[in-house]
Amino acid sequence: METLVTLCKRRGFIFLSSEIYGGYAGFFDYGPLGVELKNNIKAAWWKDFVHGRDDIVGLDSSIIMHPRTWEASGHVAGFSDPMTDCRETKKRYRADQIFVAPVWVAEMVAGAEAQFIGNIAFMEDASADEILKRAKVLRDVADKKHFKVIEEKLAEKREFDTIPEAELASILGPDATKPGSLTPARQFKLMFETHVGALQDASSVAYLRPETAQGIFNNYKNVLDTGRVKVPFGIAQIGKAFRNEITPRNFVFRCREFEQMEIEYFIQPDADWKSLHRQWIDTCIDWFVSIGLPREAIKEDVHPQEKLAHYAKACTDLSFKFPHGQQELEGIAVRGNFDLTQHQQYSGKNLEYFDEEKKAKYLPHVIEPSFGVDRAVLAVLTAAYDEDEVPNDKGVPEKRVILRFAPKVAPYKVAVFPLLKNKPELMERAQRIYKKVQKRWPAFWDAAGAIGRRYRRQDEIGTPWCITIDFDTIEKDGTVTIRDRDTTKQVRIHEDEVTAWIAEKMGEN
Ligand code: GAP
Repeated sequence: METLVTLCKRRGFIFLSSEIYGGYAGFFDYGPLGVELKNNIKAAWWKDFVHGRDDIVGLDSSIIMHPRTWEASGHVAGFSDPMTDCRETKKRYRADQIFVAPVWVAEMVAGAEAQFIGNIAFMEDASADEILKRAKVLRDVADKKHFKVIEEKLAEKREFDTIPEAELASILGPDATKPGSLTPARQFKLMFETHVGALQDASSVAYLRPETAQGIFNNYKNVLDTGRVKVPFGIAQIGKAFRNEITPRNFVFRCREFEQMEIEYFIQPDADWKSLHRQWIDTCIDWFVSIGLPREAIKEDVHPQEKLAHYAKACTDLSFKFPHGQQELEGIAVRGNFDLTQHQQYSGKNLEYFDEEKKAKYLPHVIEPSFGVDRAVLAVLTAAYDEDEVPNDKGVPEKRVILRFAPKVAPYKVAVFPLLKNKPELMERAQRIYKKVQKRWPAFWDAAGAIGRRYRRQDEIGTPWCITIDFDTIEKDGTVTIRDRDTTKQVRIHEDEVTAWIAEKMGEN
């Protein structure tokens, strides 16, 4: 993760928000390359799910909605996470992300009984090494220097929420040096509040949306009444969402301001939701593979019934092998008609759909594929990052960092290089080619330094093809070289064929 974070900052993909003030936890800014990558992911999704299908239409609803929306959806009453505070370090943690393991010690003298000396708490994504290090802190506190921790016993972990209060005194917090500093878990509201209008009292409270989904439910009737759609159909939306996360962590994986891409897919109440759910899971996996995620890094996690969100009948998460572990990338939930029922009740408006074929009125049920753009960006960066060795300009093998982006998400598709900067004929011809290519795709101009260095700079930001204009171009036959990022192989083609060549590679012919 550290390698990715450093690369993202160095090459202008992602910066900490408000960095000149020391950063602001949970908020990030996308730099010149990051915004391209993110926009390409969003554009690919919109193309495949909205433009590419007859049964899904788009929407862009407001971020701040009537506060009753969030009462109806259940967020005002229930959208919270359990948190615990550490009295020693003043840190705050999500209680459901902390696990507690007992620390057992064994006397080094052979045959002695194992003894229990306390509990260590650690975050869910802690590595085995970190856990062991924590366990040793407890051993040192207990002054049992001649004891050793039995590692296998650390696997006997429990969720923090399930620990009785009386036991808290023996627990060593994730960053504490002495046991007993964690407070009992209590609920923490996740919605950001603001006020709308001149008065700031209880009646003016409004919320920044914690999900884009409710904007879709709010507009479901509008879309039905004005559009071409009939059940089954979907509404897709890309937009910002805000959650006052207790522990924003792992770079852009868990932020306080993020973007979601959600589809509410409305189906008949008696539709075979199990097979539709399956279809959506497969469609979403295929889509992630199409933007460059390896199929084997994506796993399906079926939510057990007792862990389902209040609105869901079933939910399968797609998790991805992020640098910090296999974690949720997308949730694909079967929401029943919970939301429409609630909005119908709270708004007093009839939201029923009249099904011409069935000659019946009903509130459609919903399947909801929902994921965060920022998590998708992190997944794409993780999958693309690679290091290998290639010969430099002198033929000596040299380590290179490479982002193997699928061309459709790569920030730049092409870079154009004149072989030498101080030859006006080369510069002029290269500029001409560059301008032509730039009309169709984002392209990068680089005339500085040795060609090998220029390749390395493009490899590191994932540009699939580099075009070099050399003396053959201007003196001989008008051909240029195109070098492939992944294989480093070069082809020579005529400059007039460059656009068609790239279009073919991009699958745009
Ligand atoms: N409308 C359903 C919904 O919002 P969710 O599981 O809370 O469900 C859906 O969120 C997706 O949004 C997640 O799978 C994740 O990709 C993304 N997401 C949620 N919280 C996030 C956060 N704090 N930072 C970045 N992405 C987040």
